[in-house]
Amino acid sequence: MTIRFDGRVAIVTGAGNGLGRSHALELARRGARVVVNDFGGARDGTGGSLTAAEAVVEEIRANGREAIANGANVTDAEACHVMVVEAVRKWGRVDILVNNAGILRDRSFAKMTPEDWRAVIDVHLNGSANCTLAVWNQMREQNYGRVLMTSSTSGIYGNFGQANYGAAKMGIVGLMNTLAIEGAKYGIRVNTLVPTAATRMTEDILNAEMLDMLKPEYVTPAAVFLVSEDAPNRTVMFAGAGHFSTMEIRESKGVHLPPGRRDADCVAEQFAAISSMADADIYTEGRSHAVMILAAEAEQRRQAGG
Ligand SMILES: NC(=O)c1ccc[n+]([C@@H]2O[C@H](COP(=O)([O-])OP(=O)(O)OC[C@H]3O[C@@H](n4cnc5c(N)ncnc54)[C@H](O)[C@@H]3O)[C@@H](O)[C@H]2O)c1
Repeated sequence: MTIRFDGRVAIVTGAGNGLGRSHALELARRGARVVVNDFGGARDGTGGSLTAAEAVVEEIRANGREAIANGANVTDAEACHVMVVEAVRKWGRVDILVNNAGILRDRSFAKMTPEDWRAVIDVHLNGSANCTLAVWNQMREQNYGRVLMTSSTSGIYGNFGQANYGAAKMGIVGLMNTLAIEGAKYGIRVNTLVPTAATRMTEDILNAEMLDMLKPEYVTPAAVFLVSEDAPNRTVMFAGAGHFSTMEIRESKGVHLPPGRRDADCVAEQFAAISSMADADIYTEGRSHAVMILAAEAEQRRQAGG
């Protein structure tokens, strides 16, 4: 076993079931002390109990490893803070945070209520921010941290009936982009997992064969790698059924329209060239895009003047 977490402390949110449980068990098997967080509610986020988290803690302890249960609701920033304080008091540090907790309130957008929207954004996006805020300064001070976000193809590609979930899950990628920049000089690396697995989230849309092919254990190797010592920074990794891949956001080279042609009709006329992905660019900071368009404009003005 090359990847080890001896001496490391990990928090895994939503670790009472499904993917979080699988991540927590594997991190512990590789030597980490684990805070098994789970609010213990139903799939739509209602209810709450510590039973699921405690069962996972028992499993970890039965294997001779260390774990504690925590019932914080990730939407409660103060409870997230207390969770981190307790982990630091017990084990002296927090090295790894896996933001995994999640709920679903699927409905077509035509039928979605503001409450369905808010509840899903609150658990996935605000919950990931709350937990990360709670560990961030601690990680900066110790000059080491690994944060893993959990996104979804529903956000990256869209999925009927999941506007709330998709928006939250793509928001999480945006959160990673900036945290990966801000954390880099403090030894903090931030990555995102895009899983596909048979859990209670997907049990009603999968048949028996698919359930067997999509075991959560087949996703966990990506999670473990992305929080390891040699993890990359700012990688979005898809994992499921034994398949692993990554993605990147590219921007077309684009067209710089001259003065006098900067109107909607010219944009329509040039749309094929504007959106051509031949020679597309990858930017690692929003600022770089502004630098590029200003350089293109300066060059055009220079040519017009010369
Ligand atoms: N299963 C998939 O195919 C799939 C696909 C894409 C993304 N995901 C994401 O993976 C993550 C794990 O999902 P899963 O499939 O294992 O589902 P799951 O329902 O089995 O597990 C989610 C866990 O999060 C806990 N939880 C929910 N709200 C919480 C809160 N406010 N505070 C603390 N804990 C809370 C639940 O109690 C549950 O144990 C989620 O973020 C989900 O959106 C899953």
